[in-house]
Amino acid sequence: MSETPFQPMESFGPVPDGWVWGTATAAHQVEGGNVNNDWWEFEHDPDSAALESSGDACDSWHRWREDLDLVKGLGLDSYRFSLEWSRIELAEGEFSIAALDHYREILLACREMGLKTCVTFHHFTTPLWMAKKGGWTNSEIVDLFARYCAVAVERLGDLIDVACTLNEPNMVTLVGYWYGNFPPGHLNDYAGFEAATENLIAAHRAARTVLKSGPGDFPIGLTHALFDFVFHADDQWDGPTLTLDEIPPDSDLARYVHGVITAYLDAAKEDDFIGVQTYFTEHVGLDGQKTPRPAGLRETQIGWLFTPEAIGKTCRWAAEYTGKPVIVTENGIATDDDEERIEYYSKALAAVREALDDGVDIRGYYAWSLLDNFEWPQGFTMKFGLYSVDRETFVRTAKPSADFYRRIVASSR
Ligand code: BGC
Repeated sequence: MSETPFQPMESFGPVPDGWVWGTATAAHQVEGGNVNNDWWEFEHDPDSAALESSGDACDSWHRWREDLDLVKGLGLDSYRFSLEWSRIELAEGEFSIAALDHYREILLACREMGLKTCVTFHHFTTPLWMAKKGGWTNSEIVDLFARYCAVAVERLGDLIDVACTLNEPNMVTLVGYWYGNFPPGHLNDYAGFEAATENLIAAHRAARTVLKSGPGDFPIGLTHALFDFVFHADDQWDGPTLTLDEIPPDSDLARYVHGVITAYLDAAKEDDFIGVQTYFTEHVGLDGQKTPRPAGLRETQIGWLFTPEAIGKTCRWAAEYTGKPVIVTENGIATDDDEERIEYYSKALAAVREALDDGVDIRGYYAWSLLDNFEWPQGFTMKFGLYSVDRETFVRTAKPSADFYRRIVASSR
């Protein structure tokens, strides 16, 4: 149980016209059986940071209709999910019509149920054939990613309402090439980090051009892992902090800020929206490393600071920096205590409400996540879902937070 007494939010109040309530998932985290990508290989490497295999995940490859029923049952407007590139392009240039038709069926079902679709084209996983050629550090990926997007949009574009080219490309690079906890598992590989950043941005731009030419006519953006940052002038938690402008240009922190924040937000200035995904406040020092935290601060199950209000600050900042409308494409908490999830959402949504009231152009909010799912290196140990999933039967069971979210959504109608 959480220690601080709190009152769950009762009403969100009216939302602006066009506002979208949703919930999000990602292919590799829920589908199961995604054996043809770099994550599968990483999960099966005993020396990697991955705890376990994604295996059958939530078996959403087969149970997606149940998932859509849950989304609909929550009274939401939209479902955000991702296409798995490695299922659509089995080997370089070899496309699976059956996989595309599978996603088309999902999109059609959404349309029939009155759900809008928010489709992500790359959510962390890269086909194994591409990873073997250097993945995001090989500039060939720019054209290859754009070609995959062209093939996918040709078959699916008429049913897409919002498109996210890349999910959190800054985490692909930071965690994959700097921290070593995502594939390819490199530690302090700054050259890899920078090459991948450049290629991800070029791939985003190329994909945007392809997607713009249709079929379909929908807003296009990328989703960005945006922490509420505190930059420290040294590695002291209570020491002086730096504004973005005060960061010395030749420091590791400057390299971090470029690759993790500004490179993508600058690219987003050409987009239709910026997808903001915030979970917590992050403290980073001049060396680009996390600042050692004093004991006793409240943390979530995954070890992140419990700072639900962070989302309000990042929405304000992203809107101001990019000049673009914001969609909260992910927000949520890992916890085993569902009361704590309700507390987190209550406080996070209050911060979003305040930002809206202050005139920040926010167009929607997606809770992460619909289901307890495969949480990357931490496997199935982390519980982000509004629904739990039985690991043997795949039965989905609503948590109290699902009902809470349904009430909040209803309160805004
Ligand atoms: C990612 C999700 C992930 C969530 C919680 C985001 O970084 O887009 O795939 O599960 O945050 O870690």
